[in-house]
Amino acid sequence: MRTFKIGYIVGSTSAHSINRKLAIAISRLAQPHFEFVEIPLCELPVYNRDHDADYPQPGNHLKAAIESVDAVLIVTPEYNRGIPGALKNALDFASRPWGTNSFAGKPVAIAGASGGPIGTAVAQFQLRGTLGFLDAIVMGQPEAYIQLTETSIDETTGEPSESLAGFLRGYVATFEAFVAKNAEKPDDEYQESSAA
Ligand code: FNR
Repeated sequence: MRTFKIGYIVGSTSAHSINRKLAIAISRLAQPHFEFVEIPLCELPVYNRDHDADYPQPGNHLKAAIESVDAVLIVTPEYNRGIPGALKNALDFASRPWGTNSFAGKPVAIAGASGGPIGTAVAQFQLRGTLGFLDAIVMGQPEAYIQLTETSIDETTGEPSESLAGFLRGYVATFEAFVAKNAEKPDDEYQESSAA
């Protein structure tokens, strides 16, 4: 069975991020042949196109990490009814230098958690627009606008409550099917199908 590598990006740089806890909860519900690795944002400077000719190393690392995975899962908070600056900065880094957009053709799913009742819906709406412009293949449903309470994810074990786990199981099952359908095929599969 093919193994799929998933890079998850947390749109928060907080060491206590509830969105990282959500990303980890999602990853734990996935089948073993979906391997999750975090693509970190913390080292990135503020994007500046003047540096495109000599791209900052953290920018190169981000691009290589995105390009090395079969799909990306972005789990983000909403800041002031928008995409957090750190996440938008990372998307800008990934999109450049011109002609090397790392998101082109990449399957991407998004989710987000906040304490508020709309659970990051506005940030995710903006994010869909940016990812569409970047030519990513974005999972449409289910949307994951998650309002977390203190009991949603266990502080010690990281386990989601039964009601949150119930929703996440469906989300993960759809995500797995989406990745299997949209991930780029390995070279040997191309050779097999062209030989057939
Ligand atoms: C917030 N928060 C927030 N929540 C929300 O639902 N909509 C919003 O627009 C905002 N705006 C906002 C701005 C800023 C600068 C901060 C720091 C926070 C609250 C936010 O959901 C909460 O702090 C989450 O815990 C942030 O996610 P992480 O960092 O814990 O993953």
